[in-house]
Amino acid sequence: MAIIYNQNKKTFSLHTAKTTYQMKIGNLDYVNHLYYGASIRDEDLSYLIKRYDRGFSGNPYDSLKERTFSLDAQPQEFTTQQQGDFRINSIEVENWDGSFSFDGRYRSHRIRKGPFTLSGLPTAFATDQDTVDTLELVIEDSITKVQVTLLYSVFEEADIIMRAVRVHNGGKETIRLKRIMSFNMDYMNGQNLDLISLPGRYGQERQVERQPLTHHVHKIRSGRGISSHQQNPFIALVERTANEDYGACYGFALMYSGSFLAEAELDQYDQARLVMGINDRLFSYAVDPGEDFDTPAVLMTYTHKGITRMSRNYHDFFRDNLNDSRFIKDVRRPVLLNTWEAAFFDFDDVKLVEIAKAAKKIGVEMIVMDDGWFGRRNDDNSSLGDWYVNKDKIRCGLNDLVRQINDLGLKFGIWFEPEMVSEDSDLFRSHPDWAMEIPGRHAVRSRNQLVLDMSRREVQDYLIERINSILDSANIYYVKWDINRAITDLWSNSLDSEHQGEVSHRYVLGLYRVMDGIIKTHPDIMFEGCAGGGGRFDPAMLTYFVQYWSSDNTKPLDNLKLHYGSSFLYPVCSMGAHVSEASPMVPLETKAAIAMCGTFGYELDATKLNEKEITACRKMSERYHEYYDLNFFGDYYRLADPFEQVNLVAWETVAKDKSEALITVITVNLTVNGPQEYIMCKGLDAKTIYRVEGYDSDLEASGMALMHAGIPIPREIPEYTAFQYHLKAIG
Ligand code: GLA
Repeated sequence: MAIIYNQNKKTFSLHTAKTTYQMKIGNLDYVNHLYYGASIRDEDLSYLIKRYDRGFSGNPYDSLKERTFSLDAQPQEFTTQQQGDFRINSIEVENWDGSFSFDGRYRSHRIRKGPFTLSGLPTAFATDQDTVDTLELVIEDSITKVQVTLLYSVFEEADIIMRAVRVHNGGKETIRLKRIMSFNMDYMNGQNLDLISLPGRYGQERQVERQPLTHHVHKIRSGRGISSHQQNPFIALVERTANEDYGACYGFALMYSGSFLAEAELDQYDQARLVMGINDRLFSYAVDPGEDFDTPAVLMTYTHKGITRMSRNYHDFFRDNLNDSRFIKDVRRPVLLNTWEAAFFDFDDVKLVEIAKAAKKIGVEMIVMDDGWFGRRNDDNSSLGDWYVNKDKIRCGLNDLVRQINDLGLKFGIWFEPEMVSEDSDLFRSHPDWAMEIPGRHAVRSRNQLVLDMSRREVQDYLIERINSILDSANIYYVKWDINRAITDLWSNSLDSEHQGEVSHRYVLGLYRVMDGIIKTHPDIMFEGCAGGGGRFDPAMLTYFVQYWSSDNTKPLDNLKLHYGSSFLYPVCSMGAHVSEASPMVPLETKAAIAMCGTFGYELDATKLNEKEITACRKMSERYHEYYDLNFFGDYYRLADPFEQVNLVAWETVAKDKSEALITVITVNLTVNGPQEYIMCKGLDAKTIYRVEGYDSDLEASGMALMHAGIPIPREIPEYTAFQYHLKAIG
């Protein structure tokens, strides 16, 4: 039993294989948070809470003049509002009478099998319902009858707890949620915590930032309507001394693709608090009597074994519990060539077939026709929304084009940007009100396009019908689903002025409904996400997409940082990565080795390659398949940090049974007459002897030696050389 309620002590203990999370119905029925960390038994840890008379921290009225009990100092499971807790709050509800009080106290609870699901929002699933226990803990304000159900699903073996909250309006009038976070996490001892986040920008997504948690509110957020290039909905709180291999690490990954918010602070008594959820900026959601509001889920993990283990918990979980597409484990993903950087908008059916013929020679197995095949789209100023094949470009028709590609032995993929509309489009001309625009104002243009109001049912239905009809009209194997701007002009013509604060969230719900209607109804098609690169690469998207285009920046050396940062949360098998013509001075083999730190493919014009390049690319495509299982399903280790001044960047994947490993090393700086450098392997079986095959190597050594003494890396190798060592257990 993963969840134990101790009736005498009134404690709830949530146990995963290696962690325990504990809370208790405490004084005055407030639910106290007691512990999250390495496994302990079901002993009551409330002895950790000490009470003092804290000046200027008030006391709830019914604590009967007891000055030592203040919510401003108590560790809590979810916060109150207007009850004397001045720290970050997890709820702000405007009651029907205009007051902002929420005094949530324990009301009831239920423990059951199987993970919770949320209305209109994606959650993690369990193949076997019995392996997951769920706690539903209800707190209620006795005056307003607003209830908040705290949801916890314990994925025991994965060391993951999924959380969310459901607000129920049990009163007689409409209430308004101004802020509702998916969880609250209090640390009684918040000293010496660092906060890790993944900020970035277009073309440079998911870089890594680590900073001490200090006495102010740290705010990590996107207000762009998409989870964004600028921040990822993931943060970790780690012990100040934690590194890749040691130390306490807490990870929090929000399953939401819209504007989000994470706030963390160290309070006056050095206690830490963290919340995460929908961004409260421009948010105000009406909940009518009897109605519920569900927040997005968050995936929480803990380990005391360092950052690598935290990442691994997520990698394994994302592969096992986010997406049940057959392309995750059962069907190998083909080597693809995307035509974007090869042709941009300048192609027709004949050219595509030419590219396909050339691509076949380099081991490509699928051609992806990118932007420009629909409406009258010859540049990025028109036709978004007109999801009809452009017969001037695809003269033979889509079905016939796909047949020609299939006859070459290749699969076929296609690009869409469903959420957008061009002003120069038939769709906009017939439905101008479907674009988001505030009455009396002009909408902000971005890439000269507007955003469809995804909160509207008729917009959703149009997209589902149009896109499905294209998908069903030909033998389409793959879809790249793009979005190329941030969302502004929050307004929906289908809602009255009282409900405009709901548009941002309703947009996301509408998007998920459209994705359900297209992606979930086509289990045989492989879907990849894209948002001008990785601008909406988040755990919720991975419940739909088996992979996500990491970045429009295909420069291999920038990708070293991008992959490194992404790997804090995302597994190799989820990161789209291509060999392109960018950075011509970097050898093709190096580009390929870097693209193998993701889902390998090409983004170039194969007709322009010379014989030498063709041979090199073919070998690299074969290599991708040779190491497919190891790369996609092995344990991932970051061996060197590309953000540091290093001469080498390296990473490693070790098979789960430790029978083999692949180490990739890229030389980024060659110091003249510099020291001998060594790569220390990780994760091998200490006693096993491995043969180290690869660049100039005939080494045989024990896992112990390889991990503690290392592999010497040859010197005097030109910059940007890649070498891959394949380690094979031989005894
Ligand atoms: C975005 C994508 C690119 C490409 C273009 C097409 O920028 O990230 O890969 O699909 O759109 O317009």
